[in-house]
Amino acid sequence: MAVLGSSSSRSVAVVGAVFVLVLVLDGADVCNGGKTSTYVRKEEKAVDMPLDSDVFRVPPGYNAPQQVHITQGDHVGKGVIVSWVTQDERGSSVVRYWSENSEHKLEAKGNVHRYRFYNYTSGYIHHCTLRNLMYNTKYYYEVGIGLTVRQFWFMTPPEVGPDVPYTFGLIGDLGQSFDSNLTLTHYENNPQKGQTVLFVGDLSYADNYPNHDNNRWDTWARFVERSLAYQPWIWTAGNHELDFAPEIGENQPFKPFTHRYHVPYRASNSTAPFWYSIKRASAYIIVLSSYSAYGKYTPQYKWLEQELPKVNRSETPWLIVMLHSPWYNSNNYHYMEGETMRVMFEPWFVEYKVDVVLSGHVHAYERSERVSNIAYNIVNGLCVPVHDLSAPVYITIGDGGNLEGLATNMTDPQPNYSAYREASFGHAIFDIKNRTHAYYSWHRNQDGYAVEADSMWFFNRVWNPVDDSTSV
Ligand SMILES: [Fe+2]
Repeated sequence: MAVLGSSSSRSVAVVGAVFVLVLVLDGADVCNGGKTSTYVRKEEKAVDMPLDSDVFRVPPGYNAPQQVHITQGDHVGKGVIVSWVTQDERGSSVVRYWSENSEHKLEAKGNVHRYRFYNYTSGYIHHCTLRNLMYNTKYYYEVGIGLTVRQFWFMTPPEVGPDVPYTFGLIGDLGQSFDSNLTLTHYENNPQKGQTVLFVGDLSYADNYPNHDNNRWDTWARFVERSLAYQPWIWTAGNHELDFAPEIGENQPFKPFTHRYHVPYRASNSTAPFWYSIKRASAYIIVLSSYSAYGKYTPQYKWLEQELPKVNRSETPWLIVMLHSPWYNSNNYHYMEGETMRVMFEPWFVEYKVDVVLSGHVHAYERSERVSNIAYNIVNGLCVPVHDLSAPVYITIGDGGNLEGLATNMTDPQPNYSAYREASFGHAIFDIKNRTHAYYSWHRNQDGYAVEADSMWFFNRVWNPVDDSTSV
């Protein structure tokens, strides 16, 4: 009996082992996600820099222009919006500017306004658009009058064209903590030299302070001036730009953001500054708003429906979309918040072969495979993301380093669509080489250094649509 029993036990054990093996293999097939980085940051709380930090210093001189920042000012890159704040009095809204090889100073006159938010009154906020600039030219510009003139410079982009190399920095959810300062410093020191930042939303995090203390909008703008006065940042609205606070009588969403950060939305026939497009070098960039209506018949829906067919990939091969709340992400933090917008717009992204979608919101880094989930029609049950070479890669880069800290709690197991994920702060670079190739790299903040921890060669979806998967 003992021998028989033993033999029987062995059979059961073998069958059990095979069953377990099948389960494991099956599980591996279902959950063959990419890489969850083994790098672990030491636990530390991101803390905002105190108000007397040097990065927040007010520039010297009576009524000195402060918080200087620029962004693209037209649809094709020949315009620049210059913005700044004067605190003591209205001052002048004129920008004087001249190209590097010219002695002749030109002048453009902008406008000025203030706004109130609960018990806060802003300084005088100036916006001035410089138009008809020459491509690929260094311009100097001055703001302020009398003894308090400040001078800066910027480079205009090359003329729009299909093989124009151009390098974008990618930053999101920056805030104004010590970690934010590291991220910005690493971006500035990156030898790949980003020429323009694509910012995926959540700027100052002023709304985390009592009564949305708008002084933290001012400190943030002084902190980032060292980059923003010299190269354009392209803006996306995040949830921290809403500043919707009916409990203190503030019912107008996006009030501080829209007063402080102007974008050229009218140039792309948009009716609101939260969704718009620009061309820059060989890229066509579409900015969408996760926090504006996007259902059928809404202004944003109708605009995007008319916008996508206008993109000429023979002129701008790289189609980049920016939006704040990610569609493909596998962090438990904010999980599925982007789902309703995905349902509305994803079929178009596949139809028009968007190369890459940049998002923030989740305070970690993640890159997806090329997947889509557009077959579902309520009755067919087809609701699983599938490998799709016409689909974009989704990058979540909400890891700028704000005071809310890292989002470390990821879904387990890592889903198929996730190629690489890591809970660290950092920034990325999207380096377009020509119409077929772009080199993408993500740089984590690692104890004071920037370390390239993830990278990928992007192959353009129209000109070189081969499989560029990295984990399948
Ligand atoms: Fe956010």
